[in-house]
Amino acid sequence: MLDMERIPKHVAIVMDGNGRWADKRLLPKMAGHNAGMKAMKEIVKCADQFGVKYLTVYAFSTENWKRSVEEVSGIFKLIVVYVDSELKELNENNVNVSVLGDYSMLPAESVERLDRAIETTKDNTGLRFNIALNYGGRDEIRRSVTAIAHEVKAGTLKPEEITEETIAANLWTGKRHADIPDPDLVIRTSGEKRLSNYLLWQSAYSEFVITDTLWPDFGPEKFKDCIEEFQSRKRRFGGR
Ligand code: FPP
Repeated sequence: MLDMERIPKHVAIVMDGNGRWADKRLLPKMAGHNAGMKAMKEIVKCADQFGVKYLTVYAFSTENWKRSVEEVSGIFKLIVVYVDSELKELNENNVNVSVLGDYSMLPAESVERLDRAIETTKDNTGLRFNIALNYGGRDEIRRSVTAIAHEVKAGTLKPEEITEETIAANLWTGKRHADIPDPDLVIRTSGEKRLSNYLLWQSAYSEFVITDTLWPDFGPEKFKDCIEEFQSRKRRFGGR
């Protein structure tokens, strides 16, 4: 049974297994991503219903550019399809969309849809839905260090004034960008036990739940199981 009093505030998901889902059905890889997008739609609604405040999904990593041109452009096209079909409902449901990552180098139509989704929902006070796009944990730490180095060079910050908060503030999740708390729970589907450069800094004390379910098959029941697993854990944050 879900304890509605102890719902994780921020859930981050590595949506893995779209390719294997398609392979099992002798379908092209894009059919897997398409099914993955549908699963994502359902989990956004479900997260909202469960009372999760922040949902962050890993849609495209800084390493995913190594995939074939067809697959990369197919995923970017899905962003257009997703925003066109869902923005109205997301907005009606008071969902606030943001992107973690530099999405400016995506195709113009994807950038335009993302800008529209962010702009349309910017004053919404419900679920914060964050899409990690062209996102890499090491890349964002590097960007934070660069921003801090500029401040030190300009003389507005002393090296000894740099704290963990300074570094965190300059991450995509930080006060100077999306301003969202660290994830309480990180879910990875399809059985892989890796973080894959996802929220490296932010997941320092997150609980991890790995499920064998392939992402396109991940539905509300599986999501509930993952939250129950989270609720069975004791979090100590390095204390006793
Ligand atoms: C990993 O599965 C999945 C991705 C790299 C892409 C995830 C993208 C979506 C779910 C599309 C929807 C996104 C938006 C924002 C509209 P994989 O291909 O690595 O699976 P495999 O390990 O089985 O090959």
